[in-house]
Amino acid sequence: MITVENLTKRYGKKTATEQLSFTVPSGQVTGFLGPNGSGKSTTMRCMVGLDSPTQGRALIKGVHYSQLDSPLTTVGALLDAKAFHPARTAKQHLTVVAETHGFPRSRVSEILDMTGLSGVADKKVKGFSLGMGQRLGIATAMMGNPEYLLLDEPVNGLDPDGVRWVRDLVKNHARIGGTVLISSHLMSEMAMTATNLVVIGNGRLIASGPIKQFTESAGHTTVRVSGPDLGAMGEALNQLQPRLERSENGDVLLIQGRTSAEVGHALHVAGLEIHELTTLHSSLEDVFMELTGQAVEFRAGGNR
Ligand SMILES: Nc1ncnc2c1ncn2[C@@H]1O[C@H](COP(=O)(O)OP(=O)(O)OP(=O)(O)O)[C@@H](O)[C@H]1O
Ligand SMILES: [Mg+2]
Repeated sequence: MITVENLTKRYGKKTATEQLSFTVPSGQVTGFLGPNGSGKSTTMRCMVGLDSPTQGRALIKGVHYSQLDSPLTTVGALLDAKAFHPARTAKQHLTVVAETHGFPRSRVSEILDMTGLSGVADKKVKGFSLGMGQRLGIATAMMGNPEYLLLDEPVNGLDPDGVRWVRDLVKNHARIGGTVLISSHLMSEMAMTATNLVVIGNGRLIASGPIKQFTESAGHTTVRVSGPDLGAMGEALNQLQPRLERSENGDVLLIQGRTSAEVGHALHVAGLEIHELTTLHSSLEDVFMELTGQAVEFRAGGNR
C-alpha cells in the first residue's frame, strides 16, 4: 500500500499540493486523475523521493522510499518519459540499468521483447518516436520486476496496440497482488483499466474510492422507465422526490438520483404496468468534469 499523508509541496509561492491524503491499495489499479497542473506528477515525484514535501509524507509499504531495502525491485516508476541519454541505444540504456542494479543481462532482452522494442534495440534513443520513448520508459520501470508501479501518463503517445498492452500489463500486475498508480487524461481508458480512483484538483483531494462508486452511484445514474400510463407513473414517482424529466419525444421518463430498485418498487406499489426499466450510468468523463469543474486551472478561452 502507498500512503500519502497531509502532503503539501510548495515551489516558492506556488502551492502544488495542499494537505493531500489518500491511500493506494495493493492488488488494484488506481487511476490518478486531475486537470493539468493539479499536482499529480508532483505527488508521484514525492513518492519516490525525487521531490521532498514541504510538509507531510508519502510512504511505500509504510516507509519512505529511501528506507526501502531494495527500492528498484520494490518500485518501478515512469515519471519522465524523456529521461534517457540521447546517444545511447535502447539496449545500452537498459544494460546500464541492469549493470548498475545487479539485474542479470538476460533481463535486458527479456524486457526488450516484452515491451515490443526488440526491433529498435540498437537504435539511438534520440531517434525514437514519442511512443517508442514511452515504451522504453515502461521497460525501465519493469526491469526490477517491482511490486509497485508508478506510471505518470504511460499511454501518452502510444498507438492502440500499445494502449491495450499497458492496460493488460497493469491489470495483470494488480491481479497477482501488485500495486499500480497510473495517471492519465484518457477517461475512457481509465474506466477500462482502473478499479480504484484518486481525483485531485488544485493540489487538494476531491474524491477517492472504488471506480464503481463514481460512475454507478445513484447521483450518477439515470433510470429510464416507460409504460402505457406515464402520467400515473410520474405521480407515483413524485413521492421519491427525484429529478424527473420526460424524454424528448415524451414516451419515456428519465429519473435521476434514484436507483432502478427504488423506481421499480414505487411503480409496483402503485400497481402500474412497466414496459421498460433500465439504468444508464454516467461516463467517467462526465463524472470527472462534474467533480473537477471548479478546480480547472487552465481553461481554453480564459473562462475561469
Ligand atoms: N519544479 C517546479 N517548479 C515550480 N512549479 C512547479 C514545479 N513542478 C510543478 N510545478 C507547479 O505545480 C503545479 C502542479 O504541477 P504538476 O506537474 O504536479 O501537475 P500535474 O497534475 O502533473 O499536471 P499535468 O496533468 O499537466 O501533467 C503546477 O501549477 C506546476 O506549474
Ligand atoms: Mg503531470
